[in-house]
Parts: sequence; C-alpha cells; structure tokens
Amino acid sequence: MELTKLFSPSKIGSIKIKNRIVRSATWVARADEVGYVTEDLINFYRILAEGGIGLIISGYIGVHERGAGNYRMTRLYNESYKVGQKKLVSTIHDTSDTKIAAQIAHTGSNIIRDGYELIGPSAIKVPGSIKLVRELSIKEIQEIVSSFITTGTFAYECGYDMIQLHGAHGYLLSDFLSPFTNKRNDEYGGSMEKRFRIIEEIYHGLRDELGKDYPIMIKLNTHDNLNGGLSFEEGKEFAKKLVSLGLDAIEPSSGRTNPRLTNNKTFPAAIIKSSDEENYFTCVARELKPLMANCALIFMGGIRNPITADQFLKEEIADFISMSRPFLYEPDLANRWESGNLDPAYCTSCNACFGTVNQGGIYCPIKKKHQDKISSNGIS
Ligand SMILES: Cc1cc2nc3c(=O)[nH]c(=O)nc-3n(C[C@H](O)[C@H](O)[C@H](O)COP(=O)(O)O)c2cc1C
Ligand code: SF4
Repeated sequence: MELTKLFSPSKIGSIKIKNRIVRSATWVARADEVGYVTEDLINFYRILAEGGIGLIISGYIGVHERGAGNYRMTRLYNESYKVGQKKLVSTIHDTSDTKIAAQIAHTGSNIIRDGYELIGPSAIKVPGSIKLVRELSIKEIQEIVSSFITTGTFAYECGYDMIQLHGAHGYLLSDFLSPFTNKRNDEYGGSMEKRFRIIEEIYHGLRDELGKDYPIMIKLNTHDNLNGGLSFEEGKEFAKKLVSLGLDAIEPSSGRTNPRLTNNKTFPAAIIKSSDEENYFTCVARELKPLMANCALIFMGGIRNPITADQFLKEEIADFISMSRPFLYEPDLANRWESGNLDPAYCTSCNACFGTVNQGGIYCPIKKKHQDKISSNGIS
C-alpha cells in the first residue's frame, strides 16, 4: 500500500514541510524549574526530529511569569530565555529537515502547580476547582496581549519556523472564547466579537511585528462540552473569523484538560479502547474543512493508522495530520511508516504517560515495560 499523500510535501503559509505529519504540541516537563531549556529537552527534540516528522509543534511555552503554571514547562518572556531556545531550534535545523513551531500559551485558570493564582476573564469557579478565579482588569488583559506579541517575536528571533497560539483546553485564550468562563460585559466579553477580541488583538500585534509571510497558527477549542459553554456552532464561527483574519493553520480541538469534567470523550487526549474510537475529531475536521479557504487544517485526536490518515488527506478532510502520544512511544514513527512498516502506532492511548510527570520528564511507561521485558528475556 503506497501512502501517496502522507509523505508528500506541502506548505503552511510560506513554509514548505516535507510531509503531512505533525507532532501536536506536547508538554514533556523537561525544562528546569523556572522554564529554561535543558540539555535533556534538547536531546528529546533532536530524537523526535531524527524520526522523520515534517513539523514539530513545541510543548506550550509560557508568555508570562503568571501564565506558566505547569510543572517544568518552558517559558520565553525575557531575553534570558532566548539562549536555550535558540540552541534547541538550531539543534533541530542542524540535524534534520524538520520544521519547528513554538506553541505560545498563558495557562490562565488551568493551573497545576502550587503558588500560582488562577486568573481569567471572570470571577467564577472553573469546573473541577474549589478556588475562585480572579477576574483580570482591562490593564492586565492588555499586558497579556503584549506578552503574547513579545513571546511570538522572541520565538521568531530564536529561529522557530512558525508559531501557534494555544487557544484550547481551558487555558487563558480559550477561557475568553467560552461563555461558561467569560461572563464579562466590557469590550472583552459578552458577544462573540468581544470574546474573540483578545485573540484578534494578539494576532494583529504579531502580524505587525512578524510580517505577512511568517506563519501564525492556532490550536482552537471548537466546543468545550460544558453546559452554557462554547457550542460547536460558535466554534465554527470563530474558525471562520480566524480564516478571514489571515491565520495560516488551525488545529481544531475541544474540552478542558481535566477529563472528569467533560467526560473522557471530550478530553483532548481521549483514552481509546478500540480502533473504532480512533480519529475522534473527524466530524469536527469534516465540518471545518470547507470553511478553511487558504488556511491549512491540521487534524488531530486519536490518529493511529497511516492508511486511514492517508485516506483523510486524499479525501481532503485535512491538509496535515497531527499526533502527540504516539511519538512518546515511538519518536521514529514517521520513519517507520515511510519505510513501509504500516502497523498502526504502538501507543495504546491509555494515558499512563500523564502519571510519569514527576519522574524526570514525561515518558511512555508501556514502552519501558516492553523494553524491560525484552532485556530481561535476553539476560535469562
Ligand atoms: C503528555 C501530554 C502533553 C500535552 N501537552 C500539550 C500542550 O503543551 N499543548 C497542547 O496544545 N496540547 C497538549 N497535549 C494534547 C495533544 O497535543 C493532543 O492534542 C492530544 O493528546 C490528542 O492527540 P493524540 O491522540 O495524538 O495524543 C498534550 C497531550 C499529552 C498526552
Ligand atoms: S503511556 Fe504510552 S501507550 Fe499509553 S498513551 Fe502514553 S504514550 Fe501511549
């Protein structure tokens, strides 16, 4: 079986990508305690790049000291962070023809670490938390808009080929889009236009700084599955607005990062028990693609089979496919598929990797178990 599309080149904006395989943003908890790039993180990315992926989207990078509330996530909001980030990007460019995008994010009310204040558009209790979110003032919102623009500009200066705004999973930008979390009645809340305003301002600021040819993408919650939250109808309208603004790619997603809140099916990294449950954002991609004009659609969510993935591309449901967990198990998955071994990804989509965060960086314990078994069999 020949994969005619999966390994054909394409473009996001002006940037050529050697194949249609994208590593979806994945926080791997390998920065140091205050978000500086480590040698371990650089090595992790080098191995990924050597594995044949067309475009790697980095794990989320904090745009602000108060917006980096997850354990050992990277940050890029002052000059001191640029040294390590530059080294990471140049390692990838020097060792492969893989492109790399910086995902830039503000964690807002979706905080895992102690010592961080929950902040967001409105003073509500976010689902799953007993703490009240502190409502941001207009001045603070404007400061956050500037910090996204600064971090995006720093990413460009560090050599990243493109950037992706994190507008999903209950982090700050998606909290502005959702009427569940955004109850404001000033210029940043209320109507869809006003809930969208923060993203629009960030986009215009970035375009002014980076020029028309530098690709700007977004990972977008298209619905959040909360009563009174973002509906898919509104999600589609937001996608249309982003296309007409000039975004170069949209990677649709949904839900919040706490799977208990929105039931497992709408958790962006859903547990998959059988192949029928794979490709769980197909309906979303199918409905969005006709609205996309020249904006690329990056389709993610439980994609595990190269033949099906190729078919999605042939049917023009998507321009690229992206995966996260499969690359934790097999960083060289793209090379394996390209070499003709078309077995689906070995990742079982069990989410045990989330439990490894305090063990020196996120890894796949299922693979480790498998490897340990092989080596103990070898010894005996
Ligand atoms: C360990 C882990 C970390 C993740 N970190 C991020 C992140 O930093 N930014 C993001 O947008 N999504 C993140 N995600 C979600 C993935 O990018 C992806 O959308 C989701 O896992 C579904 O794709 P998959 O089925 O191929 O894993 C993460 C997922 C996992 C498993
Ligand atoms: S633990 Fe391993 S097999 Fe399970 S979802 Fe994570 S990467 Fe996949």
